[in-house]
Amino acid sequence: MAEILVTGGAGFIGSHLVDALLAAGHGVRVLDNLSMGKRSNLPLDNPNLQFIEGDVADAEVVAKAVAGCMGVAHLAAVASVQASVDDPVATHQSNFIGTLNVCEAMRQHGVRRVVYASSAAIYGNNGEGVAIDEATAKAPLTPYAADKLASEHYLDFYRRQHGFEPAVFRFFNIFGPRQDPSSPYSGVISIFTQRAQQGLPISVFGDGEQTRDFFYVGDLIALLMQALLAETVVAEPVNVGWNQAVSLNQLLTEVGALCAGLPPVTHLPARAGDIRHSRADNARLLAHYQMPQQTPLHEGLRQLLGM
Ligand code: NAD
Ligand code: UD1
Repeated sequence: MAEILVTGGAGFIGSHLVDALLAAGHGVRVLDNLSMGKRSNLPLDNPNLQFIEGDVADAEVVAKAVAGCMGVAHLAAVASVQASVDDPVATHQSNFIGTLNVCEAMRQHGVRRVVYASSAAIYGNNGEGVAIDEATAKAPLTPYAADKLASEHYLDFYRRQHGFEPAVFRFFNIFGPRQDPSSPYSGVISIFTQRAQQGLPISVFGDGEQTRDFFYVGDLIALLMQALLAETVVAEPVNVGWNQAVSLNQLLTEVGALCAGLPPVTHLPARAGDIRHSRADNARLLAHYQMPQQTPLHEGLRQLLGM
């Protein structure tokens, strides 16, 4: 059976995709350096799963992992925008060189289909106050965003030059179980919910009026499965959001209601390069993919909190 490679498959989004692929009867390889991912996110006793501990910045390892696969979901990256601001050189290895290595390995081994996890971060603040469509001017404000945008351009080059079938998704803010809250660089929902459950103080960077378009991981996986397995893919990048803006202050209210109150909340200066408002125009997504009914934020939070 030809397998599907999931880079970053031991991480938050990747491990949910691995579960879905295995449940649908596919063979899966995971390449992950465990910088954020965990073995415990993977069903390692499943004979249809092969786990390779390695780095996407290592071309040889990537070539071995790609050989013989029918498609790749390239999710491995340092997902934290702030980490890229703090250490642009290290994150570039994962976030850009990793993509290039995946492309070269695919070209070498004749693999064409690749699902790529790009990001709303590439629009910078150009979406201020409006729903951002895919044609919105790009304004990568951070090394993270620059690497994602460059990766998109390279995937498009390989599409034109080498017949690749890239399905490029610009994820807005994905949340759900297994998003690791343990680093200050982690996704805001994982941090706020964990701290509220444990009664630990919460830090808000800025006034809390910044907004995000939060998207439950289960809804995302349904999309990634289609993109990996469909006959054809949409050639242009596709936004993944619900066209809904939720402020951090609104999020805190929701979390407080579910956790029987909030711990003390302090405000710190806004982060450098932090985006103020982020909301997806998702017309292209809805036109081309069969999307499940939206898991509302409240319901997604309940799942995350194990309620
Ligand atoms: P995550 O940190 O849980 O997953 C990333 C995985 O990649 C981790 O398991 C990590 O160990 C692995 N990894 C990192 N660098 C690696 C390297 N050099 N070699 C091999 N493995 C490496 O984060 P996630 O939220 O699941 O993110 C998955 C992908 O989606 C990333 O590309 C991220 O940039 C992208 N994305 C995420 C969001 C979001 O809201 N979570 C939004 C937009 C884009
Ligand atoms: C997130 C993703 C990034 C993705 C982008 C797409 C993570 C870690 N980051 O970045 O991969 O490309 O969405 O839109 O998954 N905040 C606080 N307190 C905290 C933590 C965060 O106030 O303790 C604030 C941040 O300053 C920011 C907001 O919450 O304003 C969201 O932060 P974060 O969850 O890190 O996400 P993004 O930076 O939007």
